[in-house]
Amino acid sequence: MTLWSGRFDGAPDPAAFDFGVSFGIDRVLFQDDVAGSIAWAEELGRAEVVSRDDSDAIIVGLRAILEEGLRDPSFVTGPDEDVHSFVERKLIERIGDAGRRLHTGRSRNEQVSLDLRLYLRRRIPELQRGVASLVGACVEQAEQAGQALMPSYTHLRRAQPVLVSHFFLCHAAALRRDHGRLATAADEADALTLGSGAVAGTSYPVDATRLARALGFSRIVANSMDASSDRDFVASFLYATSLAMVHLSRLSEDVIIFTGEEHGFFELSDASATGSSMMPQKKNPDPLELVRGKTGRAIGRLTGWLATMKGLPSGYNKDLQEDKEAVFDAEVTLATSLVAAAAVVGRLGLNVERAERATSGLLLATDVADYLVSRGVPFRRAHEVVGGMVRRLLAEGRDFSSLDPSEWAEASEMFGEDAPRAATARASVQARRTPQSTNPDAVRQSLEECRTWLETLG
Ligand code: ARG
Repeated sequence: MTLWSGRFDGAPDPAAFDFGVSFGIDRVLFQDDVAGSIAWAEELGRAEVVSRDDSDAIIVGLRAILEEGLRDPSFVTGPDEDVHSFVERKLIERIGDAGRRLHTGRSRNEQVSLDLRLYLRRRIPELQRGVASLVGACVEQAEQAGQALMPSYTHLRRAQPVLVSHFFLCHAAALRRDHGRLATAADEADALTLGSGAVAGTSYPVDATRLARALGFSRIVANSMDASSDRDFVASFLYATSLAMVHLSRLSEDVIIFTGEEHGFFELSDASATGSSMMPQKKNPDPLELVRGKTGRAIGRLTGWLATMKGLPSGYNKDLQEDKEAVFDAEVTLATSLVAAAAVVGRLGLNVERAERATSGLLLATDVADYLVSRGVPFRRAHEVVGGMVRRLLAEGRDFSSLDPSEWAEASEMFGEDAPRAATARASVQARRTPQSTNPDAVRQSLEECRTWLETLG
């Protein structure tokens, strides 16, 4: 029997009914649904919409159902249309007629939004912990790298030397924004929908403020019509998860490149690599490729959801049921990717010699130009002089370290004896000055700040 059978002459066509069934997916909301119903029953009792006895019986019944469902997840199954119908059926089976009073003044439209809001507020901190663990793995690597150097890239061509720590903290910085974005999504979900009824509000004297407090919400939705169709908080969550996946994908891409034979700055641990069934020499970064691949899926959930929302008239529409699959899939995609990425990053080995070897050479050209600037040469002129030196060195297959004093002087009389000393990777990072730069002191401070951030999360 459905929740709405009274209105209809016959039983639903199984093909049409089964198509609309969401219990297989929304059963995950079981504990949130029961929590919302317990609060609603309490409020119905307080407001004397139902008798105290009935309200108590409903609460006792719901608590027993909750306990059973948490103890044995297989309990949360049945032919029901959705989790709301399931809980109500179980309640009526258990306590009889009093259970039939629970849905007084309430609609599944506000209930399903409430459940999903409760769910996200319960689950987002778990994702944030995953983000923090990966930040922790980056911080560990940054710490262990000490003063080691590597090239940074623009256009995937060697650009300027940086500390290896700076590279790891670069990814940590992006991940910390994801942490904040997830918090924003949780804040957006932080509004009570109960009291909205199906669309126009409820006519029973329930106290929405008290309900909000009981369920841990800091506010009540602004408008019942909006509440019945609003899933902006879902879109925000999917955006937060998509962007976090984009960051994981970019981290993965960096590590895939830098652990490859051509770069070899880092070594993948055997534990986080896979072999080839045919080529014995292969050591493949499968987990990172899978993270990169799954990013498409997360973005698809976001764009798919936006497309679902765009044509909806105001008020509840069944299309909205699609929100849950998107949320659960995005959540599990991000959670598992975070674990995999942290495992790989945590076990990366650094090949200091190869990383540092790649920092010598022509990527010191900016530093050579800066040297001329320090001697009063206008930057545009210095750029030209050094560009000429680079052209010649390239043609001869050499770099700045091979230039003898006469060659320096020949390039510009402004080069003094100390010019070769400015043209080293170590001097290059040392010369940076701003707090966000790769200057070793600045990096040490960033590392400390990042550690403090992790500690304050607890
Ligand atoms: N399963 C539905 C959903 O997820 C619950 C709300 C049903 N409301 C309705 N009027 N059919 O959106």
